[in-house]
Amino acid sequence: MRQKVILTLLLVFSIFSHSSYSQDRTVINFTDGWKFQKGDVENAYEANFNDTKWQSVSVPHDWAIYGPFDKEVDKQTVAITQNNEKVASEKTGRTGALPFIGVGWYRKTFSVDVNNNQKAILTFDGAMSNSKVYVNGELVGGWPFGYNYFYFDITDYLKKGETNTLAVRLENFPFSSRWYPGAGLYRKVQLIVKDETSFQHWGHFITTPYITGGLAKVNIKSKVNGENITVETIIKDAEGNQVASGKTDARFGDELEQNIPVKKPHLWSPENPYLYTAEMNLYEGDQLKDTETIRFGIRKIEYSREKGFLLNDVPTKFKGVCLHHDLGPIGTAINKAALRRQLIILKDLGCNAIRSSHNMPSIEQLELCDEMGFLFLAESFDEWKKPKVKNGYNLYFDEWAEKDVVNLIHATRNHPCIVMWSSGNEVPDQWGSDGVKRAKWLQDIFHREDPTRPVTVGMDQVKAVMESGFGAIMDIPGLNYRVHLYDEAYKRFPQGFILGSETASTVSSRGVYKFPVEKASDKQYDDYQSSSYDLEYCNWSNIPEDDFVLQDDKDWVLGEFVWTGFDYLGEPTPYDNYWPSRSSYFGICDLAGLPKDRYYLYRSRWNTKETTLHILPHWNWEGREGKTTPVFVYTSYDSAELFVNGKSQGVRTKNDSTKLDRYRLMWMDVKYEPGTIKVVAFDKNGNVAETQEVKTAGKPYQLILNADSEVINANGEDLSYVTVSVIDKDGNPCPLAQNQLKFKVSGDATYRAACNGDATSLEMFHQPTMKLFNGKLVVLVQSGNKAGNAKLTVSGKGLKSASTQIEIK
Ligand code: GAL
Repeated sequence: MRQKVILTLLLVFSIFSHSSYSQDRTVINFTDGWKFQKGDVENAYEANFNDTKWQSVSVPHDWAIYGPFDKEVDKQTVAITQNNEKVASEKTGRTGALPFIGVGWYRKTFSVDVNNNQKAILTFDGAMSNSKVYVNGELVGGWPFGYNYFYFDITDYLKKGETNTLAVRLENFPFSSRWYPGAGLYRKVQLIVKDETSFQHWGHFITTPYITGGLAKVNIKSKVNGENITVETIIKDAEGNQVASGKTDARFGDELEQNIPVKKPHLWSPENPYLYTAEMNLYEGDQLKDTETIRFGIRKIEYSREKGFLLNDVPTKFKGVCLHHDLGPIGTAINKAALRRQLIILKDLGCNAIRSSHNMPSIEQLELCDEMGFLFLAESFDEWKKPKVKNGYNLYFDEWAEKDVVNLIHATRNHPCIVMWSSGNEVPDQWGSDGVKRAKWLQDIFHREDPTRPVTVGMDQVKAVMESGFGAIMDIPGLNYRVHLYDEAYKRFPQGFILGSETASTVSSRGVYKFPVEKASDKQYDDYQSSSYDLEYCNWSNIPEDDFVLQDDKDWVLGEFVWTGFDYLGEPTPYDNYWPSRSSYFGICDLAGLPKDRYYLYRSRWNTKETTLHILPHWNWEGREGKTTPVFVYTSYDSAELFVNGKSQGVRTKNDSTKLDRYRLMWMDVKYEPGTIKVVAFDKNGNVAETQEVKTAGKPYQLILNADSEVINANGEDLSYVTVSVIDKDGNPCPLAQNQLKFKVSGDATYRAACNGDATSLEMFHQPTMKLFNGKLVVLVQSGNKAGNAKLTVSGKGLKSASTQIEIK
């Protein structure tokens, strides 16, 4: 009885709230209650279709990440022309060897109250791919490009007071990607219910066109639906205090514009990512009809011929990484905790910028970059009209490119982190005059929709774009690799600067070292791994130092975006032809997010707040006794001395004799003997500043767990990443251990996935067992919706097992 009264009261209240304050905008996350079926199913769009036997899933969802890995998936006999291949050969793991191809259906029922004067907007942050969206059996629309945000007004398709059915058909074609694209509703889906008289979807554009030390002008353009409208804005600082406000009813077409002064603004930057919020209230007459709150930053960007890129008047070089969108073991299903962990690792690296290669970033990633302070280069396409892969974006370019660019900009333009757009990556349209026209056409669309940010293209055909004028028309000429052409491009392009839009593509496998130690391109080994002495690269690319000298010696180089921050699924160069290679070797960190040695090379330059002192290789070389086993030290110090079992191997000091000597300390003639290698680093005055040592480990004895978060949120999606490693009886890490391990999570969390960073492993991430790769792997523990405690236990034959507690709050 009591319950009934409460329910009635709630009902009365909600009716009351509707009629007296029709401003309510309701945002419903379509996370749970989905049904999924792989493969095409007749009539699955119909409202009364019986889907009870389908799999229950929650969204975001990636249907292909559960595997199995299969060399037949998307197998192709092609010559990858970008990799300078002339002869076709069989490529197996190019798109990750996971079953993303084909049709998948999602269905969901929902009830929603939409009054006569309200609208319902269904939004997708991305759907992979070729979506067709049905509401109550009727086709509402679709969006071919899997990476873009799109929405539909579904008001007229809804049934009042009844259960509604949403069905989404997706289809991924073979030969449609150059990396693992994922599959499914892998980003958020939402339903927004609001008054007809309201802000248009993605209707606001907030910019800060005028900033002095004491004052910033915040310009807000808002597109609206309805008549007789006033918009009132309240600006709050990061603590939630109101710092400014404005109001206008002056209307031009469907837009109202406000200029609101904010005194003594805190400027947004990677070092101080200060965010304000603008609460926008829309009134029809004096009746409040809609409210939206948008976070923004006050910051000034400028690209100057004299000073390069200026952020808030401070010359700033991009210390950036390119990232594909997959999150390693959890695939492409967006997860904020996984994205946050990547950015925490990149912050420690000293990285200040991300390029979303080669497509639209997730909204969650942009939110985190705003909050944590990363500059963002938001890319759109890997292909225009000329194909790289048969069923790539070339299929859609003519009809969809403009719509795709417009949606990219409208959905993301209020994120202060975005400081540049990219209209394309290494598009084959770099050749020929049509390509120049396309470059101009696209750039003009970007300028029309957002006059505040410049546009680049990652160009690899540098000779061609110098000839054709393609490079000259870009706001920012971006060079992918081609370090030998920077000087010429700088002279021939009119802009006065060059961006390293994609750099390095050095390859390595974590914990793998090959002998002899020598610089080599396209080097392959029988175990399908690459050496972590960081001297191996591809025939079109280079080692990190080839970029460092350009970054350091040429004022006109704006910075670099290293290929890539993390390994990703697919594109297993230099083993594109070798099964079972199925993920990349390019990462500064491996697929599990564990740092490779290269991490410390970049950190020694990029992280200017903390010191770096890192020795490689490991020191477990049974069988190499007496053999030459070079030792490298990646460090922020200029000089260091190396000792092997107490015997000095000499002092090395960074110097200009070669590019390598400038950035690495190298002892090339060290003879291996088991024991301890120790490096002693000196400060500028020659005093001992820091030491590091590596010891020859004995047999694997005990597992050690190290959780990046001991407390996670009870939101059903938070993650703790637990690094598992092995030590010997004396506590030394065992760098060669490959033991098969088992994982068990008990309590109020679940086992989500594991990853060891081995590009050749065919073990599925979601199975609770995996082999260590060179002594390490990472286990992901996921929270449920209930607060409590969980325990992860990791065991392996012959090893002392280990467990760790995780609190769920
Ligand atoms: C570039 C390309 C990237 C990736 C990389 C590998 O040419 O833009 O997507 O393929 O090469 O080195």
